[in-house]
Amino acid sequence: MNAIFLEKLSKTYPEGSRAVDALSLSLEPGEVFGFLGPNGAGKTTTVKLLTGMLSPTSGSSRVFGLDPAKTPEKVHAISGIVTEHAQMYDHLTGLENLLFYGTVFGLSPAECKTKSQALLEQLELMDAGDKKLSAYSTGMRQRLSLARVLLHEPQVLFLDEPTSGLDPESARDIHALIRSLAQEKGTTVFLCTHQLRYAQEICTRYGLMDKGKLLAEGSLSQLRARVCPGVTVKLRASGIPAGLFDQPQKGDMLELAVSGEQEIPQLVRRVVEAGGEVYHVSAQLPSLEDIYFKLTAKETND
Ligand SMILES: Nc1ncnc2c1ncn2[C@@H]1O[C@H](COP(=O)(O)OP(=O)(O)OP(=O)(O)O)[C@@H](O)[C@H]1O
Ligand SMILES: [Mg+2]
Repeated sequence: MNAIFLEKLSKTYPEGSRAVDALSLSLEPGEVFGFLGPNGAGKTTTVKLLTGMLSPTSGSSRVFGLDPAKTPEKVHAISGIVTEHAQMYDHLTGLENLLFYGTVFGLSPAECKTKSQALLEQLELMDAGDKKLSAYSTGMRQRLSLARVLLHEPQVLFLDEPTSGLDPESARDIHALIRSLAQEKGTTVFLCTHQLRYAQEICTRYGLMDKGKLLAEGSLSQLRARVCPGVTVKLRASGIPAGLFDQPQKGDMLELAVSGEQEIPQLVRRVVEAGGEVYHVSAQLPSLEDIYFKLTAKETND
């Protein structure tokens, strides 16, 4: 069974904006899916559809076989959902909030306490556990809302920009936590994010959205092959005769685009045979950011 399945899922808001347009996608259990795209692309709307917070205009979706439009409570029972504006109780402390939500998810009081304390520790909120939420900073709230959704050990996590507002250390720790949940517990993760560098580190697959449509989908190597094929070779060398390559040399640096790493030895040989001295060669594969910009620029041009 797919962990997440969308078939021509569409949502048009009453005011007429088509936020999600015939989106089809399927995720296997244990995948960490990076859902990327500019502001207004339709990411949050998709998460809301998948978690039953909105009903689709047409099309359908399933989360481990459950239809969020028909049985949202069943989807919530197996999901952990972090949205941009996590709702918790300001007049309760961090620990009290966790104990409350743990009970809602059917954990026993003893289980609630053990898990809450372990999560507070894991998310570095030990000192804040006894503070009222009204005194929490944005980052502390964000971390507590992650603790809250991890209490019942969900099979699937929907994380809508879980690290927005976090300092770099916390963002790094949360990404490490997401990766370890997927690797050690097999949790499926649907992650909406603008942090492409972290997404490249932790996601197994990506979907790139713009204006409600999926522009491309696949693993990093699949996206590289489809969107930005080839390798950029940076060469530091002296004595390369002018005109050996079409590309201009900047000082002793030469940057060349080749179709694959297999072309590098031949390239170096060509420089050496022409009398050049090679000091350094590096091959650079396109990053997720390169792919993102290429796809969104193409979309803008189209
Ligand atoms: N409640 C709403 N009513 C009407 N239009 C909405 C509503 N929520 C979102 N939209 C519109 O739907 C489109 C998609 O918005 P959505 O919030 O899903 O984008 P997003 O990809 O999550 O963007 P961001 O990166 O800014 O979070 C936008 O054009 C937005 O203006
Ligand atoms: Mg959003």
